[in-house]
This record gives sequence, structure tokens and C-alpha cells, in this order.
Amino acid sequence: MILAFETSCDDTCAALVGDDGTVLANVISSQEVHNRFGGVVPEIAARHHLELIDAVVAEAFARAGVGIEQVSLVAATRGPGLTGALLVGFCAGKSFAAARELPFAAIDHLEGHIAAAYLAPARFEPPFLALIASGGHTLLLDVSARGGPVEVLARTLDDAAGEAFDKGARMLGLGYPGGPELSRLAADGDPRSYDFPTGRSEDFSFAGLKTALLYKTREVDASDRQVRANLAAAYQRAIVEALLRRVLRGLERSGRTRLALGGGVAANAALRARLGELEVELFLPPPELCTDNAAMIAAAALAGGALSYPDYLGLDVYATGEGPLR
Ligand code: KG4
Ligand code: ZN
Repeated sequence: MILAFETSCDDTCAALVGDDGTVLANVISSQEVHNRFGGVVPEIAARHHLELIDAVVAEAFARAGVGIEQVSLVAATRGPGLTGALLVGFCAGKSFAAARELPFAAIDHLEGHIAAAYLAPARFEPPFLALIASGGHTLLLDVSARGGPVEVLARTLDDAAGEAFDKGARMLGLGYPGGPELSRLAADGDPRSYDFPTGRSEDFSFAGLKTALLYKTREVDASDRQVRANLAAAYQRAIVEALLRRVLRGLERSGRTRLALGGGVAANAALRARLGELEVELFLPPPELCTDNAAMIAAAALAGGALSYPDYLGLDVYATGEGPLR
């Protein structure tokens, strides 16, 4: 059984996953303290992880109904993410493993989002294309094997898809995190009321879209709720179509016929509906496995790469730039 930790941003997460990929417990404590700042404050996130981590781990054992002695492998997110936040889960994981002389797997957060596909009951196996769209990254990946090489087909040039949702929501006077709020408002709007740009590059780019929304909010009567709902719907459509266009191109070029989705934006209903229309074998994670969680970190550890005690003690976290998908 694997005990996994994930504290790369503002969710304090611990999970217990069986060696066959069955999720026994997946505890996610979201730090709502950041909402009033309109974004995550790194130092506050780290301090809250410290306060929450023990209780979250205890809750995972209670929910799973298993004992500490049943854990045979420990895993934790190493990066990318906020350094102070990462350190809490990573040190907790290393300490738990070291105290019991257990092996430890240091997991890249983005590989974790891919690995959500490997959990039961789906156990969606490579080869497949993976669209990972989160608050910090937008990646289209060709995954040939579990734990094997991953080819990056398209990446973020500027803002990530989740960031585009968050910034768009802010311009429309909505709260943080913006994705769920913007999509709720969009449900009351007409997606064809405005024609927003989807980016010309083969990579993902959302900065132009963000600027287009800013200018549009100045032209129209943004105090009118229906106008804001129309803006939200059209803006969401542009993000979804931008993602879809690169996915279609990637499928065509790679010849792959299977597609897995991951990352917080994968929880978006409009995106899920649109991808559902494609003629591919599709893996859409349940919403709690789209946004940050530790079950996906355990799933990535299932693919191998754990270090024996005490070889992992000197490992450190990385904020950015060092992971396999940088
Ligand atoms: O993967 P994630 O939980 O954390 C990161 O690794 O960044 O992704 C968070 C991002 C946020 O930008 C949030 O607004 C977005 O995912 N998100 C959504 C939805 N739920 C979360 N975006 C659109 N629609 C949603 N339903
Ligand atoms: Zn994430």
C-alpha cells in the first residue's frame, strides 16, 4: 500500500492507494484562506500546510480503515510548485518513510496529473495523448508507456489555461479560483455572442485572449449580469476551442486514438462535453482526480522509480525548471 503526499500549491492532500491502483482514501483540504486575496499567497500556503498535514494524514488512515504498518511505499510531490508549500509534504513524506526505513518515490506533479489515469477502476493504459491543463501548465503530451518517455507536443507560451480562467474571472468580478466560478456564470450566457481569439501558434497561448476580454469589458455594459454571462460563455468557448484545436492536431500527427485529460481545467464541463464528441477512446477523470490530489501522486509511484532507504534523504524539492516535463 502506498501513502502519498501532495502540497505543491494550496491544497493539503494525503492518499492511501493499494498496489493494484485502488484508492482507499483521498483526502483534500483546500485552503480557502487565499480566496480573499484573489490568488495563492505562497507563505500563507506553506504555513497552513504545516498546520493541516498531520490531521489530513490521520484522516486518510481513518477513512481507509488501515494501519500505518500496512504502508510499504511512501510518495510525495517534489515539484514543480511553490517551494515552501512543497517542502511540507515532501519532508513529511521523507520523514514517514525514513522512520520506518521504507522506500520513497519523489514524484513530478505533472507526471502525477497524467498518472491519475492509472487508478482503478479506469486503469487507462498508455499509449495515449494526455492533455494536462492546470493553473500553472498547459501541456499536450504523447505518453508511450507508464513511467516511460513522454514527448511534449505543445506547451504553454504564456498563461496556462487555468490561469486564463482565473484572470478572466477576475475581470468579470468573480472570485478565486476562477475556473468553477466563470463556468457557472457562462452557463447563463450565449457562447456565440462574442468571437474571442484562440491563438495562432501550434503551442498554447492565452495572453491575447485575456487582453481581448479586457478590451471587450470596456466596450460593453459590464454592470449588466447577462452581458457578463455572455462574455464568460464566449471566453470559455475560446479556451475550450483553443485546447481542442491543438488536441485534434496532436491526434492527427501522432496517429494516437486514445486521449486522457488531467489537471484542474479537466473538471470543466464545457471542455469535457466538447472532447466527448471526438471519436477517440477518452479518459475523463472524476473531478476530485482532476484538481490537485495525492491519489494521483501514489499512482505515479506505482510506475516505479522509488529509492531505498536512506538514498532519498538528500533529495530536495524544485519550484520549476527541473522536472522531466519542463
Ligand atoms: O491542477 P490544479 O488543481 O492545480 C495546479 O496544479 O495548478 O488546477 C487549478 C486550476 C485553477 O486555475 C482553476 O481555476 C482551474 O484549475 N479549474 C477549472 C475548473 N476547476 C478548476 N477551470 C475551469 N473549469 C473548472 N470547472
Ligand atoms: Zn496540479
